[in-house]
Amino acid sequence: MEAASSKLSLSLLLIFISAMLQHPRMGATLGINYGRVADNLPPPEKAVPLIKSLGATRVKIYDADPTVLKAFANSNIEIVVGLGNEYLVTMQDPEKALSWVKTNVQCHLPATKISCIAVGNEVLTFNDTSLSAHLLPAMQNLYSALTILHLEKQVTVTTTHSMGILETSYPPSAGKFRQDLVGPITKILDFNTRIDSPFLINAYPFLAYKSDPKQIPLNLVLFKANDDEIIHDPVTNFRYENMLFAQTDAVHSALEKVGCNKLCVQISESGWPSKGDPDEIGASTENAKKYNGNLIKLMKQKTGTPMKPDVNLNIYLFALFNENLKPGPTSERNFGLFKPDGTPAYYFGIGGGSTSNGNSSSSNGGGSSSSGGGGSSGSSPVAGGGSSNGYPYLSVSSDGRSRFVQCKIMQIFWLGVSILSLRLIL
Ligand SMILES: *[C@@H]1O[C@H](CO)[C@@H](O)[C@H](O)[C@H]1NC(C)=O
Ligand SMILES: *[C@@H]1O[C@H](CO)[C@@H](O)[C@H](O)[C@H]1NC(C)=O
Repeated sequence: MEAASSKLSLSLLLIFISAMLQHPRMGATLGINYGRVADNLPPPEKAVPLIKSLGATRVKIYDADPTVLKAFANSNIEIVVGLGNEYLVTMQDPEKALSWVKTNVQCHLPATKISCIAVGNEVLTFNDTSLSAHLLPAMQNLYSALTILHLEKQVTVTTTHSMGILETSYPPSAGKFRQDLVGPITKILDFNTRIDSPFLINAYPFLAYKSDPKQIPLNLVLFKANDDEIIHDPVTNFRYENMLFAQTDAVHSALEKVGCNKLCVQISESGWPSKGDPDEIGASTENAKKYNGNLIKLMKQKTGTPMKPDVNLNIYLFALFNENLKPGPTSERNFGLFKPDGTPAYYFGIGGGSTSNGNSSSSNGGGSSSSGGGGSSGSSPVAGGGSSNGYPYLSVSSDGRSRFVQCKIMQIFWLGVSILSLRLIL
């Protein structure tokens, strides 16, 4: 009798130990933008497994559509909701801000993990001063509303900027804000600092390349600069093998010049189109594959930029789907990783999405030209990456990292407890 019960405790313990040791995924996240300017997209419930198949654990949307937010309930995916520029005027009224938060954020918590409200998109570079003037008050009113509802600890408030807010970005140490925007930006930065919310910037090396393909080496924008293409910053002596990091450090420099270099910078959008107009040099499947694939590889290596080597950049890829109703050049409708039917727009050799279907096959997907398994039915269609811990897409934010450390400490603690109890039993 006694032997049986101690055997039982022993096996329970062993199960417990192995469960504790297999807990590799805390803190590591890939983000993806889920835009829906299209009339042919699958319902949001279909987007959730696609996002999981990528291994993404953060999503940014451009509104607070209840069908989307409901679809993400209990998915454990963290969501940034958006408040369109057209709402900024309404949000000048604190009462309306409060009711907006109640009906668009509070009612979905905690099942849907809304972590942030991105107020307006690239507002300052619209050059519409009356719109810009409404940005900060809207952010403040939304934050006050969150505070009234005691949600300010779980949901933060920020806005997204375009690289156009910089007047100078080359070399990175020369980065500074557009002179006419220094005033409004500084006030927003003070707000970010006060509530400890991140500084979000949309950064597209593609746009830089497209505007000047003769001067800018394609390898540099695709993360693979040759020795003679590396950007050398004469002031800092830093070397940049990719333009995204150069752009990010230009932002860091601009922030430093206005005394805000402590803010956490995150890339709220970055991506590459698989198709474009004839004059959109660089837009191609081949380059999109390289850009997104190399970006994810870089995130896996967990290297920060030369100026902030210890800070892992949080990046939200743009975008989940091709969006057929977006205005503008052809590229705008072709940034998606997936076509509307849920098949990959191209294969870019990331994956190992072991979460969605329990398939943790870790075939190495450095390769890129295999046809991508064409899998439907929720299997990982762009899979092929895989990594030793089954979690290939790392973009750990600083708080993510501390959670990761805590998680490791807990593992060691429980291992100790388990060994101790084993000794007591045996
Ligand atoms: C806004 O103004 C800047 C410089 O004053 C200009 O470079 C930019 O193209 C303008 N943006 C728009 C959307 O008009
Ligand atoms: C996992 O993926 C591999 C490679 O795509 C496939 O051969 C295998 O059948 C899959 N296993 C499961 C359980 O889905």
